[in-house]
Amino acid sequence: MKLIEVKDYDEMSQRAADCIIEKIHSTKKPVLGLATGGTPKGLYEALIHDHEQNGTSYGNVTSFNLDEYIGLPKEDPNSYYHYMESNLFNHIDIPEEAVHLPSGTKEDLEEECKDYDAMIEKTGGIDLQLLGIGENGHIGFNEPGTSFASGTHIVDLAQSTREANARYFDSLEEVPKRAITMGIATIMKSREIVLLVSGKAKQEAMKRLFEGDITEDFPASILNQHPHVTVIADEEALGLVH
Ligand code: F6R
Repeated sequence: MKLIEVKDYDEMSQRAADCIIEKIHSTKKPVLGLATGGTPKGLYEALIHDHEQNGTSYGNVTSFNLDEYIGLPKEDPNSYYHYMESNLFNHIDIPEEAVHLPSGTKEDLEEECKDYDAMIEKTGGIDLQLLGIGENGHIGFNEPGTSFASGTHIVDLAQSTREANARYFDSLEEVPKRAITMGIATIMKSREIVLLVSGKAKQEAMKRLFEGDITEDFPASILNQHPHVTVIADEEALGLVH
């Protein structure tokens, strides 16, 4: 893994935006894997700014998001679809039919999982997958104990993850208990991965990522086996890494 150490959240966001913009310019039909959560918001702001100022076009881009809550329709303000629309898609020229998130409202969710992986394969695979990391090492919604061989699948969310995400809901009870997520194997098939990490809360996770064992108990540890991972992390996040 290549580590880019940056000063703070803003620098992390700008460096990540530079990576994505470069990928868009250097690839004929770029396929991006996208994430939600607090971490990539600054990056998406930087992409929007660049689109407006420099005209970078997303006309040829296809996107696949990592995950979605089960039971929330697209238009729910807490759905990841809604997050992506309001934080990115509504402000750039990506075609509507080129954006993909797993659907958490399909009747046959098992089939939705298979279809999602098949669709990623059909587009030729993901050129650049963006990731954040949970304090417990989750990537996507792959909680500790998830098989490294997993494709897109349905998960029961860890209590700690529901608590971490409760800040976006009116109460903890409203946070869905299940989600649909790209699996670890799906993520590892991406040709390139960029992991963004910011803030003190992620210090333990960074220490374990760089200094711990590769184990399903800490899902992100598998990234050590990927040939092309860049971690962009700020000083606070790296506070315990030697
Ligand atoms: C989001 C996702 C999650 C987050 C992780 C960190 O699509 O898949 O794995 O990246 O929970 O979340 P934040 O960025 O809010 O700290």
